[in-house]
Amino acid sequence: MSTEVLKEPVRVDVKVGPQPSPIWIGEGVSERAGTLLDAQGVGARRVVVSNPVIWRFHGAHLTAALGRTDPILIPDGERYKTLPSVTRIYEALIRTGADRGSAIVAVGGGVIGDTAGFAAATFLRGIALAHVPTTLLAQVDSAIGGKVGVNHALGKNLIGAFYQPAAVLIDPLLLRTLPRREFRSGLYEVVKYGMIASRDLFDRVARDMKAIFDRDPAVLLPAIIESCRIKADVVSRDEREGGLRRILNFGHTVGHALEAVTRYRRFRHGEAIAYGMLAAADLAATRGALAERERQALTRLITQLGPLPPVVDLGVGEVLEVIRRDKKVVDGRLHFVIAIQIGATMTIDDVTEEELQAVLERLGLKR
Ligand SMILES: NC(=O)c1ccc[n+]([C@@H]2O[C@H](COP(=O)([O-])OP(=O)(O)OC[C@H]3O[C@@H](n4cnc5c(N)ncnc54)[C@H](O)[C@@H]3O)[C@@H](O)[C@H]2O)c1
Ligand SMILES: [Zn+2]
Repeated sequence: MSTEVLKEPVRVDVKVGPQPSPIWIGEGVSERAGTLLDAQGVGARRVVVSNPVIWRFHGAHLTAALGRTDPILIPDGERYKTLPSVTRIYEALIRTGADRGSAIVAVGGGVIGDTAGFAAATFLRGIALAHVPTTLLAQVDSAIGGKVGVNHALGKNLIGAFYQPAAVLIDPLLLRTLPRREFRSGLYEVVKYGMIASRDLFDRVARDMKAIFDRDPAVLLPAIIESCRIKADVVSRDEREGGLRRILNFGHTVGHALEAVTRYRRFRHGEAIAYGMLAAADLAATRGALAERERQALTRLITQLGPLPPVVDLGVGEVLEVIRRDKKVVDGRLHFVIAIQIGATMTIDDVTEEELQAVLERLGLKR
């Protein structure tokens, strides 16, 4: 990890509740974690939660940055995003004498952030939480916005809370060790932000793809900052998904259904969302709401980003079944986010089963 002189981090605020929830983004901010957290009052007793994979790569330099850490390491994987893991965190906190002045520092991807975040939201009715996201997906999405929670044997993310972190520290240098497929998974969410709010971001991902994959901070950092700004802005205006926050679900109706029918084993989250965005763009283009050339630009970008796991063996019927049960069905109506151009969306609530069926068939699923 480099220790060269660091540029000033950029600050982006999520403005909900009495105090803004600040996000610092910059090359090397993780090396200044101690100072930044002290300044934010996430001081006194900090308890790090991470996993053994991440800690092997980044434990030494984070320990140097945070001072003595005795991290709580949860085993790696989505299947540990559970209440038993939360209980383990509670036990470790109690054993070390944690109190209302203690803070949890979650160092990891979405799994660690969601699990440790839920522990922070509930231990002693809430202790301070800081996120140090280590996957691109966590840096642009899961560490921002305050959703924390765990899975239940009967369904994903069924248990959770809204709990804004006291600070989020985003360091693109941490992504150097991230496997390419995980990196790509996060990039699809960046493409999503382009689709919903920024043609410029979309174009830059397409143009600078190689440098982005090389994790060149000169291009990666601005893409992360813009993604964070978009999410922070949406969440600031609609913390609890009353309406606007729904645009963040672009590509997620079909995406979540694909993840569910494959029991969260086949797709990385972003890969499923890539299919979901293709589906939403197809639906919009077929209705004439999105220009064909815009749709093709999305298809081209997603194709260029790399291969996606197959869908040909999945049945249209089973996917439709999951969509019907989807959380986004309000009063019996499915709220579906479509793109009307690259950089702008709208929500429609009159999507028919026939339309969805045709879209899924064109995506390659079997009838
Ligand atoms: N709270 C929210 O708003 C929100 C939003 C989107 C997704 N999520 C949740 O996020 C989770 C997915 O998160 P994810 O994609 O980050 O997956 P993840 O947390 O499982 O991390 C992916 C893999 O990368 C490894 N890893 C992490 N950082 C690394 C690094 N710097 N170097 C090398 N390896 C590293 C992890 O150990 C893991 O094996 C899901 O549970 C999803 O529900 C939450
Ligand atoms: Zn997502």
